[in-house]
Formats: sequence, C-alpha cells, structure tokens
Amino acid sequence: MTEAILRDTPSLLLLGPGPSPVASPVRLAMAQPVVGHLDPEFIALMDRVQNGLRDLFGTENRFTLPISGTGSAGMEAAIVNLVEPGDRVVIGIHGVFGGRMRELAERQGGKVVAVEQEFGKPLDPDAMIEAIQGGRTKLVGFVHAETSTGVLQPLDEIAEAAQAEGALVLLDCVTSLGGAPVHLDALGIDAAYSGTQKCLSVPPGLSPLSLSDAAFDKIRGRKQKPTSWYLDVELLSGYWGQGQRAYHHTAPISMVYALAAGLDAALDEGLDARYARHRDVAARLYRGLAALGLECLVEGSFRTPMLTSICVPVGVDEVAVRQRLRQVHMIEIGGGLGPLAGKIWRVGLMGEGARPEVVSRLLAALGESLAHQGHGVDIAGGLAAAGEG
Ligand SMILES: Cc1ncc(COP(=O)(O)O)c(C=O)c1O
Repeated sequence: MTEAILRDTPSLLLLGPGPSPVASPVRLAMAQPVVGHLDPEFIALMDRVQNGLRDLFGTENRFTLPISGTGSAGMEAAIVNLVEPGDRVVIGIHGVFGGRMRELAERQGGKVVAVEQEFGKPLDPDAMIEAIQGGRTKLVGFVHAETSTGVLQPLDEIAEAAQAEGALVLLDCVTSLGGAPVHLDALGIDAAYSGTQKCLSVPPGLSPLSLSDAAFDKIRGRKQKPTSWYLDVELLSGYWGQGQRAYHHTAPISMVYALAAGLDAALDEGLDARYARHRDVAARLYRGLAALGLECLVEGSFRTPMLTSICVPVGVDEVAVRQRLRQVHMIEIGGGLGPLAGKIWRVGLMGEGARPEVVSRLLAALGESLAHQGHGVDIAGGLAAAGEG
C-alpha cells in the first residue's frame, strides 16, 4: 500500500483553487519525528506559530491559533462560538463560501439577513450597510477573497458600518491570507479564519483563527455553552494560551510543523514582497489570457490576485480542457462551482504557485489544450504578452 502511494501519486502542478503547491521545506518539516503535544519543544513551536499568524493577520489578538481541521473548521469555530440563538446576523453572499457562512449561522439559530450579490461581482457596500442598520445586528460576516468567483472584496466601508452599529465583524480569509494584505486590527475586524492550503502553500489540515477581545467578551457572555465541544474556543485557549497548558485534544503535530515552515517562508520573503509577487504574477496571467483571446469573469479592479476565473469560450468543452491539462501537461486547474459550473475555469496562483515561470507553463498548456479542440489561439503571442510590463 505505502509502495503504491510512493509509486503512483502523480506530481502535478497545482493551479486550482487549492490545495496549492507545497515546497520541500514544508514537506521535510512534516516528515520530522512526532513529539508529544505537551513536549517543551513543541510548546515553543506553538508560540512561534501563533506569533507568525499574528503577523500575517495584522493583529495582536491573544487568541490567534490554528484550529485542527480545514478552512471550514475555522468558519464553524467562529460561528459556533459567536452566534447565539436569536442573534441578528448579516451575511454578505457573493459566492459559494458566503452561502456556507449563512448555512452555519442558521444552524446555530442565528436570524440571518442575507445580502446577496450576483456571483462575479463584489458585495454592494450600501446594501450591506442598509442591512446592518436594519436592526440590532450582532455579527456581520463576509468573504474577503471569494474563491468560487475570483472577487477580492473591499473591506473598509462594511467594517466601519458594522463597528458604528456595535456589531462584530467576521471575515473569511481562507484564500487571501498570505497572498494579500489582511490588517485585522487596523480595520477593526473581530474574527477571521483561514486555511493552510492556499497562499501559505501548506497541505490542507489547519485553519488559522483569530478573535479580538471584543469577540471573546461576547463569547464569555453567552447564555449557553457553544454547541460544539471540539471547537469551543475557551477550552482551546487553555491549551494554546500562555502559562498553564491543559490538554484539550491532541494537536495534529506534523501539521503544526508544516504550518511553522510555511509561515517561516512567508515571513522570510517579507509580507509586502509576497503580496507584490502575487499581484505581479496575476497581472502577467491577465496579459497572457487577453492575448490568447480569453476573458476574465471579474472586472479588473475587483479581481483577487491569487484566483482568476476565466470564461470558457463558446463551443469549448471545459471538462475536456481540464482533463487534457491534467493528463498531458500535469497541471490541475479548477472548474466553476454552483451557478458558475461549466462556465468558468478557476486558476489559482497561490503561494509557491505564484511564479512567473508557472504562468508561462500554464499559458502554453492552456493554449495547446484549446488548439487540440480546434479552438486556435496564438500561444507565442500569449507568452510574449505575459512577459511584457
Ligand atoms: C473562501 C473559502 N472559504 C472557505 C473554504 C472552505 O475551506 P476548506 O475547503 O479548507 O474546508 C474555502 C475552500 O476553498 C474557501 O475558498
């Protein structure tokens, strides 16, 4: 069995919506011997991971730690702790993940006011503000980088309106963290979660979560305990907090090693340089796509650099293109989700994947795969355009 895994696992260039490519230092870190979850060396590593996450989130929040589980576990941890039955919760929905937030808030008994937007466009701040002001709103939740559409949501106006009404703000940073600036404290965002498998280029398995003191005050004042024991942040902070460490659940040791290595890579590169790299590489992709005659779904100023949604040209079999990319070119890209299924491809240039040479390889492969279907494109022109600027 192990032999089969070693022999048969393909080495693909991961350019879908996540997971992103994982560099060798992270893989090596994961392969180190497992220690106990209360081992002093491991505790020192936990502190380092928490500090690294604070830097990435732009926060001094004491409660900043990786939840065991993927991005949805962070979403669930935030909502299960912050939402009490009857709470008025405003959720912005401009893609699949805003919809998931609504579902989780409703499951907690929240009275959700959903502000919906056509997929591919950013939330309308005026509609959000009107909804926030429409009652005693306790929580306002929305997604920063909507991976289902490729929109990067502007944050300031919505966050300001929520604060003015005394509501807490919850931000989904699953795809943005590590690839675009996220300044929780400066923006007054009280709760944010992410995932390891996007711009941190760490395998899926942990979900960084940060909560402000105000968020914690709300949680301490709950009438009833959160319905989840595993994701109860007060219990989790006993293990991850400073001072006395109490066992809660056994930490996924190897994943914490991997996250530590991923954070080191991000911080060694420098966050501003890393954000600029994601922006520059995305601009390269946009130029190349335009020269190939392909259109992006999202209007230029609202595109999120780490995820580009490309409209499938009329008459092209989008599944066949993805299959050819996977089988012939060893590249994975994503298809559309929900209402965009069959209409777009989703290309992720995240973390280790956000490199100029990766864009060239993708454009050449995409051009070849389209030509294979009789949809002729100027590959040389696309590559030249990508390199300009
Ligand atoms: C914006 C966003 N939020 C939440 C999630 C859920 O994360 P996961 O699939 O890691 O549970 C994803 C996953 O792609 C995402 O892109």
